Amino acid sequence: MEQLRRLVQELALAGYQIDRSAYDYLKTMDEPEASTFAKNVLLSIGDKASTSHILSRQELLEISTHPLLEPPQVQASVARTIPAKQISARLEVLRDSSKEIGTGGTIDDFSHYFRDRFQKLSRAFRERPDSRDATSLAVALAQEQNKKVKFIAMVMEKRERQRKLFVQLDDLEDTATVLVSPEERAAYETAQKIPLDQVICVGGVRAKGDLFVAKEVLLPDIPDHKPHLAEEDVWAILLSDLHVGSKKFLSRELSRVFDWLNLKIGDPNQRAIAERTKYLVICGDIVDGIGIYPRQEHELAIVDLYQQYQEAAKYVGRIPDYIETVVIPGNHDPVRQALPQPPIPKNFGEPLYESRELVSLGNPAEVAFHGVRFLLHHGRSLDDVISSAPNVDFTQPEKAMRLQLQCRHLASEYGNRSSISPEKVDHLVIERVPDVFQSGHIHVVKYENYRGTQIINSGAWQAQTDYQKRVGLVPTPGILTALNLHTLQVRLINFIEPDSGKPQELAQQIPAY
Ligand SMILES: [Fe+2]
Repeated sequence: MEQLRRLVQELALAGYQIDRSAYDYLKTMDEPEASTFAKNVLLSIGDKASTSHILSRQELLEISTHPLLEPPQVQASVARTIPAKQISARLEVLRDSSKEIGTGGTIDDFSHYFRDRFQKLSRAFRERPDSRDATSLAVALAQEQNKKVKFIAMVMEKRERQRKLFVQLDDLEDTATVLVSPEERAAYETAQKIPLDQVICVGGVRAKGDLFVAKEVLLPDIPDHKPHLAEEDVWAILLSDLHVGSKKFLSRELSRVFDWLNLKIGDPNQRAIAERTKYLVICGDIVDGIGIYPRQEHELAIVDLYQQYQEAAKYVGRIPDYIETVVIPGNHDPVRQALPQPPIPKNFGEPLYESRELVSLGNPAEVAFHGVRFLLHHGRSLDDVISSAPNVDFTQPEKAMRLQLQCRHLASEYGNRSSISPEKVDHLVIERVPDVFQSGHIHVVKYENYRGTQIINSGAWQAQTDYQKRVGLVPTPGILTALNLHTLQVRLINFIEPDSGKPQELAQQIPAY
């Protein structure tokens, strides 16, 4: 019936109506038949100049079997009308940290790891005019009492006493304590949200012993910048957290995404996006995995990992072949949990890799689509950021991602829920300022522009699980994020709407940021 309604609407737009006989005939068709028929009629009606404007059953039949509409010619005609097919892909892998994963694991590696973090983030401070002249702790400690100081150090511990914050610092050579009082409001608010093991810059005065009193506390932050933009009007579709294999996996909704990408559903505006989609990202948690959280087995529809990927391949295989597709793993995929994670391995992911061509990278990864630079990170460490930073909760993953950009680090705190491999280099420092920063993991779609970087949390394709219910997480599944690479404009499309038959634009339903 939906197909029929749409055909009648589209014919009306083209200036045609149907009579009772045509209407009754169309009603007898099932969905696939009606779809093919409608496509044929709409493609050929313009070629039949003598057609009257009120179409009977007979006329519809004549049009749909017009000689110009033999299948190969229909396909050629459709192919010519898809702009993304004619646009050449410009996909660059800027960094795949999985290529740099070493053996790691010894005490020596820990000291290398933190030294590298310290040096990289110190460099970020030196690029800022307000912290270019910051010194080492040794220089600050050598100053006389009440002298002004500015230095760079790493946060080892934070304690609150009588509403004052005492921050223990270390710069790999010396240690010190900084007192941050609520009277210095900006410094106090920053100090409150700083994660442990984060490199910061402190401006203040020298007090007694190893103590300093802070006037300002700075995070490395990203500069306000003009993002790189694509010259052409092309789109990227950002997905994450499919969780294929879970009982709560939204198969129908995800299937509709691929119907839409294959131009089978959607209103003209939505179709225009699908026709100009050149890139697609799946930012981790392709499958639900096994043994990821307590009692997960009760929530699995497929209990075999290989079969979960077999099922996932049925969806991934439907991505049109002209769309470049990038995949990274999440914490539900069968790779090591410590960051950085290697790509999804061939032994489990085989069905996925056989379904179509994929650019399979580690987590995190950096890519450029048409010159627009993406930082892709599944986002497990967002749990840590949300649990430790004040005024950030699971409904605001974009705020937690903003803090990661301010920290210029994807998982500052070592030894919390997200494990970090002590590599010789810290691959989790955000050295290059991204134009787009995508994560998933939280299962809540949110986006905001921060200093020129488009932050996007791409939600999920899994309804609320019992586990999420227990921890109080309310997801927003079935909402697709589409990003225009020419403008960095985000469009949210809701595929969960069951009755309207077409995907629903959500721009009006999501609060402004
Ligand atoms: Fe997930």
